[in-house]
Amino acid sequence: MKIVFPLLLAVMLTACTQHDAVHQENINTVADSLNRAPIYKIGLADIMSSVLVHHHNLWFAGVNGDWKLAEKELNEIKGRLNTAQTIEDKKKETAAIPLLYPKLDSILYAIQRKNTKGFKSSFQSLTNGCNSCHQAVNSKIFVPNP
Ligand code: HEC
Repeated sequence: MKIVFPLLLAVMLTACTQHDAVHQENINTVADSLNRAPIYKIGLADIMSSVLVHHHNLWFAGVNGDWKLAEKELNEIKGRLNTAQTIEDKKKETAAIPLLYPKLDSILYAIQRKNTKGFKSSFQSLTNGCNSCHQAVNSKIFVPNP
């Protein structure tokens, strides 16, 4: 037993070292292919397209009285606008994004009170906000109120 144990330990350690070497080789291969992969940088247009989807969903959730879903959709919009501001902070086009935040707050206020009328009018104000910015930056994109 006295001899077997150190022997076993030695065998295990050798196996581990070999294992580590294989691991490192795998890591190097993955890192190498990541370095060569083309980089897809998400841009403002990508974020805006997904904002539009949630803008749509928010409307239908609200007018159908699904307030829980409406709040979730509102948060999706907020999160994306925040991301747009963060990743495109050098663009003058995103400088006006904070103007939408009070409009989003009014929608939240209506959602929390399950107020369909308030929801519809604050939603229209949000849509106007989308279009005002698009006009200001000479974008031809028109966001309809669904
Ligand atoms: C602060 C300015 C601003 C606000 C507010 C804004 N947008 Fe935009 N939006 C832009 C700009 C700038 C573009 C053009 C992006 C590009 O093509 O690089 C754009 C483009 C878009 C596009 C076209 C994306 C594409 O694939 O070309 C959609 C859809 C859109 N916005 C939806 C919305 C919606 C919905 C809202 C309101 C919830 C909104 N936007 C609010 C600035 C804004």
